[in-house]
Amino acid sequence: METWQPFLDRAVASMQRAYAPYSSFHVGAVVRDEHGQYHAGSNVENAAYPEGVCAEASAISAMVAAGGRRITAILVVGEGDALVTPCGGCRQKIREFAAADTEVAVASPNGVRRVFTLDELLPVSFGPEHLAD
Ligand code: THU
Repeated sequence: METWQPFLDRAVASMQRAYAPYSSFHVGAVVRDEHGQYHAGSNVENAAYPEGVCAEASAISAMVAAGGRRITAILVVGEGDALVTPCGGCRQKIREFAAADTEVAVASPNGVRRVFTLDELLPVSFGPEHLAD
């Protein structure tokens, strides 16, 4: 059973620092890498709307920049009634660095609401091994 509190604490702090002046929808994400290090990200929007970056993508970039190459678990936090699940593009970005059974927790600032496996969110997916040899 995964201990989500270290993820949640960091993700909420990141969510509060989100730059989301256009949607006002603040999201935080935290990935844990193969070294046990946590990497946080927030969404960073842009006046040229499509150039905005999701919280998950920010967290993955921070992980890679710090030397991490595997996601062992990820948590996403946002507010509102609906579950803040990763968007389709972010599911694929997570797929690059995670396994089918990697857990993806979806949280509100009060706690984890649902835990999915990556395979549940992105079934029959395409990944790095398709390009191997
Ligand atoms: N957003 C994320 O950062 N992650 C998600 O999982 C869902 C959506 C951001 C993108 C945009 O800045 C805002 O939330 C509204 O879509």
